[in-house]
Amino acid sequence: MIIKSLEHLSLISKKIADYLSEEDLIFLIGEIGVGKTTLTRNIINYLQKKQDIQQTEVLSPTFNLLYEYAFKNLKLMHYDLYRIKDTKELDQLGIFNEDVNSVKIIEWPELIKKNVLDKLELHLSYSSKENERNLILKKYGKWKNFSIDEL
Ligand SMILES: Nc1ncnc2c1ncn2[C@@H]1O[C@H](COP(=O)(O)OP(=O)(O)OP(=O)(O)O)[C@@H](O)[C@H]1O
Ligand SMILES: [Mg+2]
Repeated sequence: MIIKSLEHLSLISKKIADYLSEEDLIFLIGEIGVGKTTLTRNIINYLQKKQDIQQTEVLSPTFNLLYEYAFKNLKLMHYDLYRIKDTKELDQLGIFNEDVNSVKIIEWPELIKKNVLDKLELHLSYSSKENERNLILKKYGKWKNFSIDEL
């Protein structure tokens, strides 16, 4: 499908946010600057607003690798693995060791080989128009029933 604008991305982000629950894994796949952090920021700020939690800055975890956000019903871990170069470095991060219940949204997840039941993969790519993006969803587990076709 096509994401037509930032407003359309915002609607998509909200629908994903409303569907999130413990142990979900979201993979954000696509080139530099395609919109992975923007989508994550939308999700986090939307949940903060919905739960009456103060809205925070949502920075890219490019250098920190991880930023955590606490919500009433769940904890959300936002990873950016761009700087992780091999599986040894990946294992040291222990993404799946602690906080098994947390939601994990991961940019540049290509090195992750672990299979998780409930996973949504978003494949983003540039389109010819500046504010448009192509999006392909790959759905696993509970996400098989999830659709954004009507948005
Ligand atoms: N439809 C759209 N969807 C997403 N981003 C868009 C769209 N239209 C314009 N943009 C802009 O594209 C940029 C996306 O930057 P962002 O930091 O989210 O990319 P990224 O995929 O996280 O990059 P990186 O790989 O460096 O982490 C933002 O400036 C955003 O405003
Ligand atoms: Mg990013």
